[in-house]
Amino acid sequence: MPEVEDGSVHLMVTSPPYPLIAMWDSLFKADPKISSLWSKLDTTGDSEVVRQIYDAMHENLAKVWVETYRVLVEGGIAAINIGDATRSINGVFQLFPNHSRIIEICEKIGFTTLPYILWKKPTTKPKYKGKGAFLGSGFLPPNAYVTLDCEFILLFRKGKLRKFKVNHTERYESKFTKAQRDEWFSQIWTLKGIRQTMDDLERRTAVYPDEVAERLIRMFSVKGELVLDPFLGSGTTTKVAMKNGRNSIGFELDSSLLPAINRKLEPHIKDNTVLVDILKR
Ligand SMILES: C[S@@+](CC[C@H](N)C(=O)[O-])C[C@H]1O[C@@H](n2cnc3c(N)ncnc32)[C@H](O)[C@@H]1O
Repeated sequence: MPEVEDGSVHLMVTSPPYPLIAMWDSLFKADPKISSLWSKLDTTGDSEVVRQIYDAMHENLAKVWVETYRVLVEGGIAAINIGDATRSINGVFQLFPNHSRIIEICEKIGFTTLPYILWKKPTTKPKYKGKGAFLGSGFLPPNAYVTLDCEFILLFRKGKLRKFKVNHTERYESKFTKAQRDEWFSQIWTLKGIRQTMDDLERRTAVYPDEVAERLIRMFSVKGELVLDPFLGSGTTTKVAMKNGRNSIGFELDSSLLPAINRKLEPHIKDNTVLVDILKR
């Protein structure tokens, strides 16, 4: 993110492509190393190669976490929404705990891990042997798996706590209520998934509900501050940042999402909104 200055971002909120979740396989294959590992897996069927693919996918994401560390201010927060993955390769079932791999990587980078949030998604159906439903034997022990019906919102801080002047006006204007504090700062969030009427583009980007971005932005930034989303998707983070009086920067690889992003931002553009040009590299 060479356009972003060191120590200039107050909060990063994002949801990256999830390693080993099938919908993101083709995107990760843009890395020649990952693409050739998939070919090796196809020809050898060696399930150890899947571990190498998993490592390489996280090496890719780690580049973004390193850049995030650079651009955050001292005390700035990074909030990363991620789900674990399960995959059966050649009949061998494996869990890929993306959340713990990201914690390990971010700690190596220098972040402090904070208590994280479990986002419980009520929509996921129970699975049996990795398939969609429990079927007949789903009531018999011991071969069914626990359903992955939670995603993680990992929270990290760069350096020490942020410092503010006494009576910092914007900070007081950004106050949340007691009811909001009690709900937002509890460890389990039960939020419905995104509405069912998503268009194809939104489904393809796996949008998160506005409520996820809204809570995080209001919990961890002050009005007027800068929020970054390095995996912008349909633009949810920027939209919610605008709605809540925060500045934002977003990066998105897939330029076909631009119309969807513009549609999302349009209603929130005010007279004093400054839209900086979209750069293409
Ligand atoms: C899970 S989606 C983000 C969804 C987003 N939170 C929303 O609500 O719309 C991840 C996004 O990251 C994008 N992406 C993947 N690799 C990228 C990269 N290297 N730079 C920028 N964007 C990338 C994908 O195209 C995808 O749109």
